This record gives sequence, C-alpha cells and structure tokens, in this order.
Amino acid sequence: MVKFKLKSTLLGIFLASTLAVFSQSTTTVSFSASDDAPIINKHIYGHFAEHLGRCIYGGFYVGDNSSIPNTDGVRNDIIEALKNLNIPNLRWPGGCFADTYHWKDGIGPKDQRPTIVNTWWGGVTEDNSFGTHDFLNMCEVLGTEPYLSANVGSGTVQEMADWVQYTNFSGTSPMSDLRKENGREKPWNVKYWGIGNEAWGCGGNMTAEYYANEYRKYATFMSDWDNTGGVIRIASGASDDDYHWTETLMKNIPAKMLGGLALHHYSVIDWDNKGSATNFGEDLYFGTMSEALKMEELVTKHSAIMDKYDPEKKIDLVVDEWGGWYDVEEGTNPGFLYQQNTMRDAVLAGATLNIFNNHADRVRMANLAQAVNVLQAVILTDDAKMILTPTYHVMEMYKVHQDAQLIPVNFSSPLYVYNNKTLPAISVSASKAKNGTVHVSMVNVDAKKENKLELNLNELGIKNVTARILTSKSLQDFNSFNNPNKIQPNQYKDFEVKNGKLSVTLPPFSVVVFEGK
Ligand code: AHR
Repeated sequence: MVKFKLKSTLLGIFLASTLAVFSQSTTTVSFSASDDAPIINKHIYGHFAEHLGRCIYGGFYVGDNSSIPNTDGVRNDIIEALKNLNIPNLRWPGGCFADTYHWKDGIGPKDQRPTIVNTWWGGVTEDNSFGTHDFLNMCEVLGTEPYLSANVGSGTVQEMADWVQYTNFSGTSPMSDLRKENGREKPWNVKYWGIGNEAWGCGGNMTAEYYANEYRKYATFMSDWDNTGGVIRIASGASDDDYHWTETLMKNIPAKMLGGLALHHYSVIDWDNKGSATNFGEDLYFGTMSEALKMEELVTKHSAIMDKYDPEKKIDLVVDEWGGWYDVEEGTNPGFLYQQNTMRDAVLAGATLNIFNNHADRVRMANLAQAVNVLQAVILTDDAKMILTPTYHVMEMYKVHQDAQLIPVNFSSPLYVYNNKTLPAISVSASKAKNGTVHVSMVNVDAKKENKLELNLNELGIKNVTARILTSKSLQDFNSFNNPNKIQPNQYKDFEVKNGKLSVTLPPFSVVVFEGK
C-alpha cells in the first residue's frame, strides 16, 4: 500500500512536470468574430466607494479647506486619475455601511448635520460632511453614473422613496423642493439603485425568501418619477456559490421589477487567516488565483439559473463587489481594510476582467472593491501624496474594451502547476471597438513559467499590431509612495508577425494588451 502510494505520488510528480513542460509549448488562440456577439458593457469597469476607512474621508474627500488641490473638497488628483480610466459608474455609500446610512443626515448646511458612528468599519464617528450632493456632484465631475445603494436593513420604504424623489424628480414635491433649497435645481437622474446590500449578512441576516418579499415591496415604491429612461433596480445578490439565493430571487421577483441581480465574490483563501498583501509565497499566490479564477464557475452557474427564468437575458448579473482581500498593513486600523497592491493583484484583475468580458451576454455591470485606500484599491493616498496601483494600470489598459463588441476566443489553456495542483495558466478576451480597432487582453497567471501563444490575425482582419505589458521582476513588487512608478505599463515588442500569425511570449505573471488595426 505504502509502495503504491509512493508510486502514485511519483507518477503525480512525473505527470505534473510533463504538463509543466507541455505548458511551454505554443497555445493557439482562435477567434470567432460575429455581428451577433454581445457588447461588453462599459459598466463592467465600475468602481466602489464606501464610507470605510480612508476611502471617502481622507481619500476622495479632504474638504474644501484642505491645502490639497480639490474641487468642492474632492481631490483633483483622484478626479484626474479616475477620469483617465473612463470610470463608467461608482457605487456608494456602501457596502455594509449603506444599510446603516440615513441620507437625510447628509444634506443641508454641513455644520448642522448630525454625526454617524460607522459601526461596521472601525467604530469611528463621521460628521456626514460628504453626503448626497457631494457624491452626485462628484459623479458629474467624473463623468460617471452614480450607483446608489439604498438602506433596507435599518431604513424604511418611505426613506428610500424620498431619496429617489430628492435625486430624480424635476417637478414640485416635498423632496425636490428640499433639494432646490439645498442649492440644486435640476435633478441628477440617478439610474442605478441597489435595494439593500448583502441582505443575507450585514444587510439584515435575511433568508432569500424573506428578502425576495422585502425587495418586491421596496421596488414597488421606488417610483420612476419622471419616466425618463427609467430607474434600474438591483437586488442584493448571492455570496459566492449561494445558488439557492439566486434561484429564490429569480423565482419570486417578477422580472419587470428586477433590472439586475448582484453577486459578491472576494478572492480569499481563508477568512480567518488572509495573509499579507505583499509578503506572500507561491502557495498564497496560487490560492488567491484559484479563488479569483473561480469567478468563471460562479458567473456560469448563476447565469444558468438566471437563464431558466429569463431566457432573453433581460436582467443583468451585477458583480458589484469583487477583488482580493488580505490582512491590513501593519500599524493600520484593522477596521479600515487598508492593503497594498502587488503584481498578484494585477494578474487577479486582468484574469477577472477577461472572465467578465467573455460573459458579456449576462454580466453587464461590476464594481471592484474598492476605489481608494480600501481592499484592492486602484488609488492609494498618504496625505498629499497619491499613487496608482498595478490594478489601476490593468483597468487603464483594459478600458479599450468598454462598449466594444466581444470577439469570442477559443483555446485550450496550458496548465499552471504548483504543488501537484493545477490552474489554467492563460486567460484571454478580445473585442472590436466601434472604429474597428481590435484589442486582445492576455494574462499569464503562471508565477514561474513563460507561455507562448499564437494568434491568427487573419481571423481578426488586422495587419498592424502594437502591445503594452504590465509586469515586474517579482510577483511581490508594488508601487510605494517612495517609488510610485516601479510598476507601470510599457510598450511590448517580444512578438513576431509572420504569414498572418502573431507569435508572442508572455512572461510569468504578466498582463498584455494587443491593439490591432
Ligand atoms: O467591501 C467591504 C465589505 O465587503 C462591504 O461593505 C460588504 O458589502 C462586503 O462584505
């Protein structure tokens, strides 16, 4: 028995190393462009700004008396950086915070606003100086669609209906008059509304059956005041693989009341022992990537349930929280979820966005958690300093996919082998922009091995190709306040075009985006 075990272990190692060698051979990627392919909704590239740690206060918002250059209290450098991503939507005010938030406390003269204790995140007292006007005006400056998360857990139907009237009604009414008194004549016409957040947990610990009924009630009173283009109601969705949640909501909520159904998935291996954001070995990297790539299965299975009830795919799957979640940086408040961001996060982001692109027929919105100073942030600040993380650069490289037509890809991925476990090493998605430019984004997940790929350019109808790459010497590398540009995209030339075929070598843990004309 022992002998057999030894033999089978040796056989396993032999197979694994054979597969590893095999992974060095060339992978052919084929493309099947079609006019029927879905458009990659720009809203897949959305962000999330919760009242959590230094995301809003000390992040986005420094107040208009700050010496840091700002527009109505919002940092100009953050505005510029997010505009450069073509940020399509921004979710606010939470997260768990949303189900404790009473929007009327955040309007009117700032010195008269009551405080709120942020019970979920560090127990800090906030002065409500950043409220509805501040957020919605900031969205206008950013040129982004606001996505408001309404309080179901500790709020009321009336409170939520009032918020919709306050933000969206142009005529005379108690709430629109109040908005005008507070200095805003025209409504903002907020389109995206979340009805609660994580209703199965911090949003009220509800069962799926109970929440479905609550949802129906709240959605009924979320009137579309002007009937100008409509309000899109988004239900608080499942955590990870809670398929019962999705099934119950799809079954019990009339389709016409449901614009989108959410899903949350964080790439965490062990919630009690998440590990450091920067000081990790290949075991943790492999674990994080296994969790990240699980998104493929989650999106496929949740979509299949939605297909049963909504075969015409009218309801959006909205992955409104995703990303890596590690231990907080040493010496920081554990409730503030402040973490650094390495090449691991860049690979995670590139692979996840490829999954969303490839499921563009159902995934029409997503929000990386979170934009500034929290979790897998695209921006980190330290007083007046600001840095862009590797994840920011992936978002910037991938923005070319926003509202482009998906080009379905086909390939058989080589394996990334670690400790006798395997993952697909390669992730690819492609799209054609309205002006005909084609983009192919590729990620080599393998921590150690380069991978060779061959693309048939004739299938894509392109001749001239350029490429950009994001990688670094070490997987653990990150941008710091002392070395802010250690990781940034560079032109990539390590590819060859011959007889209509493009051969490229992807270095380990790299993200590459090709542009073809
Ligand atoms: O993004 C941090 C928290 O994670 C959010 O507040 C909550 O919705 C989720 O559990």
